[in-house]
This record gives sequence, structure tokens and C-alpha cells, in this order.
Amino acid sequence: MTFVDSFALLSSRLFSTSKFFIRAKFLCRPCGFHMDVRYETRSTMEVVNVPPIVCTYRQALRTFDVQGKNELPQNLSKLKAMMDVLKAEDLGFDKSLSNPATWVKPNKAPCTYIEVFQNRQINMSIFVLKPGFKMPLHDHPHMHGLLKVISGAVKIRAFTEYPLKEVLNHVDFQTRAKLEAARLAQGLHKKRKLFAQITNSSTCSEISETCTLTPTISNYHEIEALEMPAAFFDILSPPYDTLIEGIGPRRCRYYNVVNSISTNLVELHETEVPTCFYCDQAPYLGPVLV
Ligand SMILES: [Fe+2]
Repeated sequence: MTFVDSFALLSSRLFSTSKFFIRAKFLCRPCGFHMDVRYETRSTMEVVNVPPIVCTYRQALRTFDVQGKNELPQNLSKLKAMMDVLKAEDLGFDKSLSNPATWVKPNKAPCTYIEVFQNRQINMSIFVLKPGFKMPLHDHPHMHGLLKVISGAVKIRAFTEYPLKEVLNHVDFQTRAKLEAARLAQGLHKKRKLFAQITNSSTCSEISETCTLTPTISNYHEIEALEMPAAFFDILSPPYDTLIEGIGPRRCRYYNVVNSISTNLVELHETEVPTCFYCDQAPYLGPVLV
């Protein structure tokens, strides 16, 4: 799966830059789901020297491995704890992207995307936002996500559908999936309208904890860089460019707040992909992920 294939499904427009190359594709091969076994057989010295991002990568694979579904809560909190202490240097982050001068160049996209790793279970990436740029309000259908600011500061507003939807049981999900699949097959996409509660409205910087979202809690968010460029490291599972079983492609949908019902309750309407949101790309320059 190429970057362009995957990111097209995130519904953003891509601009290539001369800096882009596919080092990450060659360096970050998935190693299967038995990393812990191999890991344990290594010498103590090797274990001590494992870079933090490699530990995080291994923990992310373990967390979202379908075989480990029952340990998801424990594994998620381990993964969050590892991300809480990640720094820009751990990811080989190019400091020039934190320089405001980089963002005033003619034709520079307002967002730079760095793919760190992707397979069918997880997507690990870095987004860098131009000063003052807001990544529009969007959702993460049936996905988990963790977001750690590694440079600058962002204002995050996260929303939870109201009233809170329980996780559907298998039969209900199949029924809904059939209806949605039938609509999509006819080329009809029903634009969503919903009420949502603001479940997080805060400013996060590199010293802040990792923000999390689940298929039901804080699944909608918008992220705005403050007066300096800002970067955050993101882990999503499953990635956008996978199928939702029984429905079809996992689309990223965008929303407008059309009405404020009270201080923390709003009405959201799905909207077209905002034309202001497009990204260029830069390579991952951090440690090899094995
Ligand atoms: Fe997001």
C-alpha cells in the first residue's frame, strides 16, 4: 500500500515535495506479531539499548494484535505511558519543521505528513501543522487513537457523540452494516447529523500527556497549532485505509459545528472534505523499527 493510496482515504489532498523519499518503507518492515518472543531472547545489553520509539512500536503491535483483544485495556495504558515520555528526538524529528521560516515559503502546504509505520493493524505517523492552522474536525470510524504532541503546542477539542452510543453487539452491527453497505453500493452517502458533547478542550504541548480516543469516546476532534509550528505523533488502529467488516472502506468524515446547544453540547453536521486541508510529505528519519 503506497502512501498516496493510504492518505487518499484520509480525504486529504497531497502535495509531493522534493524531500520525499521512501526510506521508511525500506526500514520499517513489519516483523510479525511475536516480537515479544524475539525481544526476550535478546541479550540484556540489546534490551537496554532499545530506542523508545522501537519499544513503542512493539507495544503498539502487541496492543492492537487481534489475538490480544482481551488484554486491550492493560496494553493501551502501557502504550500510553510509553508515548507520554516520547520526545521529538526519539523520532528523529527534523527541527527545521519547527522553524516558522519553513512555513512561509511559497506554496508550502499547511500540514506535513510523515509516515512512521503502517500495516493492516496500525498506522504510526507524525503531523506537523503550520502556525495557526487548524486540522478540521473529523472522525475515526471504529478506531482507537493516541496522540502525543512532540513539538510546539496545539489546542485540541474532542467530542463524544451524545447520547453516548454503546458498543454495538454483533447482530446490531451486522444489521447497520448491511444498511450502510447497501446505501454505499447505490452511490448514496447519507451525510451524518449528530449531537456531541465536548469531552476535551485543552492546550497540549510536549510536556502534556498523550490524548486518547476510542470508537465511542472522544472519537471526533479538531487540532489547532498555536502561534508556532506544532507536531504530534499519532497511532491509529485500525488505519483509515482498511475495510470496516460488512460495510466497506473506512472513510474519514469531516464535520461543522452548526449549533451550540449549551456550553458543552453541540450539533455536528457532516461536510465535504475541507479544501484548506492538504499535506505535503517528509521522510521518517528516526530509528529503524524492528
Ligand atoms: Fe484525528
